Amino acid sequence: MGEQLRRILVERQGGFVSGEEIAGSLGVTRAAVWKGVRALRGAGYAIEGARGAGYRMTDRPDRIDEGVLREALRPGLPWTDVVYLAVTDSTNRVAMEMAENGAPHGTVVVADAQTAGRGRRGRAWVSPPGMNLYVSLLLRPPVPTVEAPRLSLVAGVSLADAIEAMGVPASLKWPNDLYLGERKAAGILAEMASDPDGVRHIVIGAGLNVNMEEADFPGELGGRATSLRIAAGRAFLRTNVLVRWLDAFGTRYAEFLEGGFPALHDGWDRRDFLRGSRVLLRRGDSEAWGVACGVDPQGALRFRSEGAAAEELLHSGEILEFRR
Ligand code: BTN
Repeated sequence: MGEQLRRILVERQGGFVSGEEIAGSLGVTRAAVWKGVRALRGAGYAIEGARGAGYRMTDRPDRIDEGVLREALRPGLPWTDVVYLAVTDSTNRVAMEMAENGAPHGTVVVADAQTAGRGRRGRAWVSPPGMNLYVSLLLRPPVPTVEAPRLSLVAGVSLADAIEAMGVPASLKWPNDLYLGERKAAGILAEMASDPDGVRHIVIGAGLNVNMEEADFPGELGGRATSLRIAAGRAFLRTNVLVRWLDAFGTRYAEFLEGGFPALHDGWDRRDFLRGSRVLLRRGDSEAWGVACGVDPQGALRFRSEGAAAEELLHSGEILEFRR
């Protein structure tokens, strides 16, 4: 009853529904409706009751709605299952374990909070509850092992597509970061298992800061990290953001399978955050300053080391610092 009542009020989008109408459509008494309203209020929903008009929802906690996510598993997209966890250590760890245990291609793991969110190079990913998206996509792509890591670039392009479709301009910092203005709002971490026959599975994990406010960031991230809410000046419903990303990823994934990264190159190129910047690059154990000259059609960074005449193409590495 609670979930059905919640849906009725949400679908009315802030308009009144009479207690009689609710009771009629749920087949319960008006006293039961009143009890349901009280329970929803206890769960953080703001519901106004007015004699003669009924009830209306004026505010709701932004919870990730598994039911809505399931409806987004539409034919034509790669998604086969959604696993929602209120809290877990790391959605990437969970998805990797599920993959080893035979979970199907297209499984989506999403958590409201992580206690040990993994960033790149062993760093932690700040993952408080109630405000952001922590998502891992389990894929078993029919591509050669060398091609599969490019799926993290595909994830970046599709995330930028989804965010821009909501009216927020985004740029992409090679290889795995999404920026809003001059600050990072999302990071992507791909983990893969392969054997001599090819890719067994790859997990693409994305952390997107959605509704964090300045005060929510720990001190060391202050000024360097941002969120959709800070950039756009309004809050977002996480479920909607995720559905948009799953749709956009599905489209870009199909393009990638059809034409490889060249098919998506333009989607990266026009959002290239680093092009023309001086950057400090780390690859393996060495570090070098140089200029980022763009990303080639295969997704490699075009890098001209300081003092060098020619560009190199880098398929992996990390940018430690950049200067405009
Ligand atoms: C980075 O920029 O360092 C990559 C961050 C990736 C974080 C996401 S949150 C969902 C998924 N689960 C994890 O443990 N990590 C990724």
